[in-house]
Amino acid sequence: MDPKSLWSISYGIFIVTTVLDGKANGQITNTVIQVSADPPRVAFALNKENFTHELLYKSGVFAVSVLDENTPMKFIGTFGFKSGRDIDKFEGVAHFEGTTGCPCVTENAIAVFEGRVFDKMDVGTHTLFAGDVTSGKVLTDGKPLTYAQYHANKGVAPKAAPTYRAPESQTKGD
Ligand SMILES: Cc1cc2nc3c(=O)[nH]c(=O)nc-3n(C[C@H](O)[C@H](O)[C@H](O)COP(=O)(O)O)c2cc1C
Repeated sequence: MDPKSLWSISYGIFIVTTVLDGKANGQITNTVIQVSADPPRVAFALNKENFTHELLYKSGVFAVSVLDENTPMKFIGTFGFKSGRDIDKFEGVAHFEGTTGCPCVTENAIAVFEGRVFDKMDVGTHTLFAGDVTSGKVLTDGKPLTYAQYHANKGVAPKAAPTYRAPESQTKGD
């Protein structure tokens, strides 16, 4: 199987957050998609090892920020390469507490929405969460950052990402 056959799938770049017993956390996620219109439902895949997964699996609440195309790589690094087990990712980052109690990150975000987990599926390394969107707002008229643009900016995804590209696959193409 040629891993590159999957590389042409398009994604955005998002921050998915949650809160459990007063402990908030969030992570970069490229796998957010809308899966139904009425009721509005979304789905996203979180790695089982991630702190966000640990909290969200139990809390059942989430918020999603759609990142702007001009989001600095350093900002993505904080939420996408560091763990909330080691740092407070929200320190100095603009956000508000949503109706679900989740932190809704507004910094570098063009829209934010939140909701509750409707169902979840074990897909191996990751859990696929499906959720009802209960509220949402547009923050700016900016353009969303795409996964393709992120790669064009020399961004990479860590092993925890479902779309991780092993370095050898980028040269061997097998
Ligand atoms: C561009 C990019 C896309 C990512 N996509 C996902 C994803 O869809 N699902 C996932 O579980 N992790 C994804 N990650 C990895 C997590 O953001 C990363 O493992 C994070 O450090 C987890 O933090 P936590 O332990 O605080 O939850 C992605 C990272 C980057 C940089």
